[in-house]
Amino acid sequence: MTSSVSFLDRLNNQQREAVLTDTRSVLVVAGPGTGKTHTLTTRLAYLLNRQDITPDSLLALTFTTRAAREMRERLRQLVGEAAQQVFIGTFHSLCVHLLRAEGHYLGLSPTFQVCDRHDQVTILQSVLRRLARRDSRAEAQRILHQFSRVRNLSVEVELELERAGLRDIYEAYRERLRKRGLLDFDELLLLGVYVLERQPALRQRWAGQFRFLSVDEYQDVNPVQLRLIRGLWEAGSHLWAVGDGDQAIYSFRGTQPQQFLNFENDFPGGLVRFLEKSYRFPPHIAIAASQV
Ligand SMILES: Nc1ncnc2c1ncn2[C@@H]1O[C@H](COP(=O)(O)OP(=O)(O)O)[C@@H](O)[C@H]1O
Ligand SMILES: [Mg+2]
Repeated sequence: MTSSVSFLDRLNNQQREAVLTDTRSVLVVAGPGTGKTHTLTTRLAYLLNRQDITPDSLLALTFTTRAAREMRERLRQLVGEAAQQVFIGTFHSLCVHLLRAEGHYLGLSPTFQVCDRHDQVTILQSVLRRLARRDSRAEAQRILHQFSRVRNLSVEVELELERAGLRDIYEAYRERLRKRGLLDFDELLLLGVYVLERQPALRQRWAGQFRFLSVDEYQDVNPVQLRLIRGLWEAGSHLWAVGDGDQAIYSFRGTQPQQFLNFENDFPGGLVRFLEKSYRFPPHIAIAASQV
């Protein structure tokens, strides 16, 4: 393994200070190209280099499987094969992992499969047909979009869907998925959160396992994902996140910029750090880009 000194030396002062900040919750806020992901990956390498920390106690969450792959590759370049032992994945892949192990608390078979968007549409169309409703693909897509909004934004999912006149459709849809041993993406997250929130001992165990939680693209964390992070944090995990205030490409999934600003409330005692030097563009272009 490379010595921690050498990879820390390659960081600028603000990046290095962020890596070495060991408070229980840290949010690094910076613009694009300031090395947020690079700093996060170096933080993982730094933790791996510490004698008291094992690779399987690190959990790094990303929003896409591609981002997870890239982060693993960057980490491999810093620490070699130890990178293989770190859980680097999406929020959904964490929930798959969690629910395969613990879903029995919810009566869920460990062999459940994840339903992709195409199957979701087909299944919802057949439910709509059964309920004698309009069953075009477009209509199914529209309703799924609403399900997704409510499930990612709201605490009172059933109540909200009732208000929107969608509760019967939603229940029939879920029943159909359950019969086929399927979970859709939103339900994966909801059930993951649910099992952590309802089972304190289990939460304690998972937080004991994943002692160091990292999140890239924190600005895109939606309320359900925030509950997942908070569940582990409240049970003892450390949180170290990086985020870009200017990007909210996942806003259709329910990201509220407010949450980004609320970091210190969500994680009392948390510290916010900033990175100011951009590596992607010359400074004048970076300024212009931030104004569009
Ligand atoms: N301290 C640094 N010295 C040299 N290059 C850096 C440094 N920090 C980041 N970079 C480079 O800047 C580019 C953008 O980094 P990245 O981590 O992807 O930024 P962000 O996640 O903030 O968009 C990458 O090519 C990265 O290697
Ligand atoms: Mg990045």
